[in-house]
Amino acid sequence: MADQQRGVALAALLAQFGLGRLSATMSGCDFPSVIELNIGGVLYTTTLKTLISQPDSQLHAIFTGREPVTQDAKGRYFLDRDGVLFRYVLDFLRDGTVVLPECFRERERLRREAEKYLLPGLVEAISNDIRNRAPGVITVGYRGSFQFGKDGLADVKFRKLSRILVCGRVPLCRDVFGETLNESRDPDHGVSERYTSRFFLKHSFLEQAFDMLIEQGFKLAGSCGSGTAGNAAEPKPGVDTEENRWNHYNEFVFVRD
Ligand SMILES: *[C@@H]1O[C@H](CO)[C@@H](O)[C@H](O)[C@H]1NC(C)=O
Repeated sequence: MADQQRGVALAALLAQFGLGRLSATMSGCDFPSVIELNIGGVLYTTTLKTLISQPDSQLHAIFTGREPVTQDAKGRYFLDRDGVLFRYVLDFLRDGTVVLPECFRERERLRREAEKYLLPGLVEAISNDIRNRAPGVITVGYRGSFQFGKDGLADVKFRKLSRILVCGRVPLCRDVFGETLNESRDPDHGVSERYTSRFFLKHSFLEQAFDMLIEQGFKLAGSCGSGTAGNAAEPKPGVDTEENRWNHYNEFVFVRD
């Protein structure tokens, strides 16, 4: 039997067992040079060359035929992973590096994707990106009143803090505080590169704010506090007048360089 005939007979035999596509995939030679992907429902088009650019990665194993892959109804190669984050995986495969957007808050999730795809280079690029984030300054402040207690009788003086204020460049504040930021006093008017001194936090835990700044690579550069005796307006019933009259303001300047 001639080689060609033998090939046809083998294909027919495989087709009989429903193995036609599998065998073709396994042989690794039926991938077109341009590949359509369906990653968790998000569609991408890229080249075979890009997909196999990182040896030892999972995508290299798949698109060299060493690992099986499913196809969706339209024949696109389907992977059951996060489709949105795959954008950065693809960036990395194309350029060997990745630049994450400033307000990107899914570094940990992306790191996990990178691990799943067996891309240690991407894991490292994400860590470098954290270290190389843009320099900037954020000031955190709060106003409070000195507590004297009613008629000076209270002997426990907890920190009294009404609102933690956040001042700085808007995208940077968002990057650091994310969901915990209350922007209701300074809503966005479409200008992204602006500064604000009217953001505040949804919680009143100073140390939680500090932790978030430290996590993002900021260091405390300076702080100051001041106390004043203002002229208290008509005191509300049950509120100590001394306490109302004495106010303080504290500010903490955090820098990332
Ligand atoms: C944000 O601040 C506004 C105005 O002070 C307030 O009404 C709103 O409840 C705050 N939102 C959150 C989620 O804390």
